[in-house]
Amino acid sequence: MTGAAGFIGSTFVHLLHRDHDIVVLDKLTYAGRRENLPEDVELVVGAIEDRDLVLELAGGADAIVNFAAESHVDRSIADQNAFARTHLIGTGVLLDAVRERKVGRFLQVSTDEVYGSIEDGSFTERSPLDPSSPYSATKAGGDLLVSAHAHTHGIEAVICRGSNNYGPRQYPEKLIPLMILNALHGDPLPVYGDGRQVRNWLYVEDFCRGILAVLEHGRAGEAYNVGGPDECENIEVVRRILELTGADDSLIEHVTDRPGHDRRYSLSSAKLSEEVGWEASVRFEDGLRRTVDWYRENESWWGPIRSGEYREYYERHYGRPLAS
Ligand code: NAD
Ligand code: DAU
Repeated sequence: MTGAAGFIGSTFVHLLHRDHDIVVLDKLTYAGRRENLPEDVELVVGAIEDRDLVLELAGGADAIVNFAAESHVDRSIADQNAFARTHLIGTGVLLDAVRERKVGRFLQVSTDEVYGSIEDGSFTERSPLDPSSPYSATKAGGDLLVSAHAHTHGIEAVICRGSNNYGPRQYPEKLIPLMILNALHGDPLPVYGDGRQVRNWLYVEDFCRGILAVLEHGRAGEAYNVGGPDECENIEVVRRILELTGADDSLIEHVTDRPGHDRRYSLSSAKLSEEVGWEASVRFEDGLRRTVDWYRENESWWGPIRSGEYREYYERHYGRPLAS
């Protein structure tokens, strides 16, 4: 499992580690942490672009699941270099290793953002890729490399495209944990533009179950969408967080919009439901309550983050320091 010291990968490892022999390869960027992983799981600290290391680790592996990524759209707008390196060069190195070391199966964890924005209806796997940010453009490039290797070299590769995830252990640069922690600290809640952008919220364990289903039953060379059960405007997400944390509406502050901001994402997961029987099980209302409770109860997890690199990033990006 690559990149599994981050948010989604670590959730996947927690679901699987008792029944599988897992090795995690993770570069431990600002978003990756040893503490996210169960103690009995081996972590190798290194980058997926490191060909020698990847070839060594891939020998004897039944499967590689690639979670490794730079995952934040705003950071890709500020500087796209690490995004191109990890999503394009890194994915290519993993694909070479699958072929050279005869790894049984490769799963690329991808995103609904590769399809771009949609006004009405939902994207299917046949929709054209039309990414709009450096993050999504490099993720789309990674997906195309995976499809090309499956087509040209016949490797057993599948792609899983998830919608916006939320849940425990998500780095607080992302909308939901950022707003929860700011609300708990009485910091302003920075809503981009009018806040009417729509996201398709997917509880992280549901995404991980979808990834496992595709790893086990997906058809080689195919992509599968994994969409959340509920759509919600950002401003509504923020209002619900204010209610759940008991913070005041006056904390909401509309700030300059994200450049090139995608207005709406929406995925159809019909193919996944029909072919492997996956359905989302956690509705947004319930998952959001669980997530707020988790952040309330786990200051030992977010405390060190809020006092480190994140503070500097926050001030640089939002043009003001965190108040507390
Ligand atoms: P994250 O930022 O929490 O974790 C990414 C992990 O990858 C970190 O542990 C980091 O150290 C590691 N990493 C980064 N570059 C690396 C490299 N070159 N080599 C090895 N490790 C490296 O991200 P996440 O939210 O857990 O996302 C995981 C995957 O899921 C990504 O591929 C992302 O594109 C995709 N995805 C995310 C969401 C979402 O809402 N968060 C939705 C759909 C798909
Ligand atoms: O759709 C899947 C994608 O979801 C993943 O591929 C990405 O890795 C993940 O980061 C996420 O991308 P988004 O850009 O949708 O997520 P983010 O949490 O950054 O923003 C969600 C929405 O909230 C988006 O419309 C921007 C808005 N937003 C975000 C932040 C951080 C704000 O209004 N204010 C903020 O401060």
